[in-house]
Amino acid sequence: MIGRLNHVAIAVKDLAASTALYRDTLGAKVSAPLPQPAHGVTVVFVELPNTKVELLEPLGEGSPIAKFLERNADGGIHHICYEVADILAARDKLKAEGARVLGDGEPKIGAHGKPVLFLHPKDFNGTLVELEQV
Ligand code: CO
Repeated sequence: MIGRLNHVAIAVKDLAASTALYRDTLGAKVSAPLPQPAHGVTVVFVELPNTKVELLEPLGEGSPIAKFLERNADGGIHHICYEVADILAARDKLKAEGARVLGDGEPKIGAHGKPVLFLHPKDFNGTLVELEQV
């Protein structure tokens, strides 16, 4: 059901410093910061030959990554995103197998303008999983 690894998202406290780390120390291609008020984050995309890393910094009040950064002072891997061909079929299969879909269970438009869903980390080895329809 799942296909390619679309991205790994890393929550960071200082987006400029983290962007410089990836660009200058690791020598990666990085995007300009992209504020996403609807998602409560500002994102920098790190383009790798086979996938992406997304650096997420909290934006505004009640950011969904604020609590994560309280628990992880140095930042940390926040979620991984797998591609699926049919997100509704994927959701229904996962629910039938007992996995918990976060929120109201309806796909939202994600950072790339495509439908996404998140799956409960307790059902997936302690890892928040995002599914993105491609
Ligand atoms: Co993501």
